Amino acid sequence: MRFQTAEPFRIKMVEQIKKSTKNQRRQWLMEAGYNAFRLKAENVYIDCITDSGTSAMSSDQWSALMLGDESYAGCKSFYKLEESVQDIFDMPYVQPAHQGRAADYIMTQIYCKPGKYAIGNLHFDTFRGNAEILGAIPVDCVIDEGMDSSSGYHAFKGNIDLDKMQQLIDEKGPENICVVIITVTCNNNGGQPVSMENIREVSELAAKYNIPLVIDSARLAENAYFIKQREEGYQDKTIKEITREMFSYCETTVMSSKKDGLVNIGGLFVTRNKQVYEKANQLAIVHEGFITYGGMSGRDMEALAVGLQEACDEQYLQYRINQISYLGEKLKEKGVPIIEPTGGHGVYVDGRRFFPHIPQYQFPSQRLVCALYEEAGVRAVEIGACAFGQKDPETGEDIWPALECMRIAISRRVYTDRHMDVIAEALGYIYENRDKYKGMKIVYEGPIRSLRHFTAQFKLI
Ligand code: F0G
Repeated sequence: MRFQTAEPFRIKMVEQIKKSTKNQRRQWLMEAGYNAFRLKAENVYIDCITDSGTSAMSSDQWSALMLGDESYAGCKSFYKLEESVQDIFDMPYVQPAHQGRAADYIMTQIYCKPGKYAIGNLHFDTFRGNAEILGAIPVDCVIDEGMDSSSGYHAFKGNIDLDKMQQLIDEKGPENICVVIITVTCNNNGGQPVSMENIREVSELAAKYNIPLVIDSARLAENAYFIKQREEGYQDKTIKEITREMFSYCETTVMSSKKDGLVNIGGLFVTRNKQVYEKANQLAIVHEGFITYGGMSGRDMEALAVGLQEACDEQYLQYRINQISYLGEKLKEKGVPIIEPTGGHGVYVDGRRFFPHIPQYQFPSQRLVCALYEEAGVRAVEIGACAFGQKDPETGEDIWPALECMRIAISRRVYTDRHMDVIAEALGYIYENRDKYKGMKIVYEGPIRSLRHFTAQFKLI
């Protein structure tokens, strides 16, 4: 019954959001150089640019905040966080960090080496950036279905392809592979889950060659829920039983707690290896803060300790995952091409299939981001030609990414299904009128290619 999946909370405090006119939004878009990152948030009606750091905290989290112990060393709040993390990950050593990319930095310094390869399903940008600065080489080995937005149903499109992984190990030699990183769920191809079987098999293959396995656990609870729903043998397990098994296969995990931690800021580096933990402590002291706070305030650690537990609540997860599929279904009814099945934290619309007449070099997904904002004040994000387009270092020629999408990321516990209806109606309307849209051209990029989506400015063609 559908009411089973409705919001398992009621609203105690509201934050006003502003509706505006199409003419106003046209003006603001032009002033922003047609880049959604350059819009003022107050001029956005429904903000779907990210699901990171945008969760609504519960009354329990807000009251925990008041208990924050801000002592520099050994504060009570750290020990509460440590206990909550150990409960969910079943790993002993917990080093906080101020957010996910800081934990990525520590992990990269420990596991990566210049000239060595890091295997992943699809590496997230912040690890990729950290690895490249160090001179390590990130390689994506997700299954083919995960790279094809029209591949239809596959329960675990975030899985690593074991043959691709084996091939890379054979080709480069196991001594040249420094780490394997599984990102759960896989952000870059639709918030797609990774199966327990795949995590286990990847860990066995890595162990055979003495290669350490790390999990990027930003969306661990959502991944666990998909395992429970879709994988044989897990229907009767609790979410925490599933998370504990997931992490039993890896040595270390890094987490941006801005996602499934249900907080606005924070990160974690968690490991079962004492020597690795001691190295992480040293790096944290230099870059983040003392071992027992690592760049987080005591109050933020309190809120995170509670948020992690709430994220593992099954009623919450049922509502969460169903809200995403609700939006996906509405879009499909209107013919809007999306990555299927919908994943954990958003709906990914295929820009090329939406605007088949706009070539990839004219940024179809970015055009769609602008159209959606102009039409309804909804802000999404491009993850296609602008974000992931590269230049061949030798020929200077453009290399276009396989996936060309607009991501509609849904914040946790923030928007209602009525907001989803607004997004679906607006996109349906744009889709009906798709022939009227033309592409875009970049007029300013910024100094670093891989960061251009944050700073680029465009012109409409
Ligand atoms: N890992 C994954 C899988 C992520 O999705 C992110 C952030 C990070 C690491 C970095 O964490 O932001 O706390 O430093 N993803 C956000 C997004 C920014 O919009 O997908 P952070």
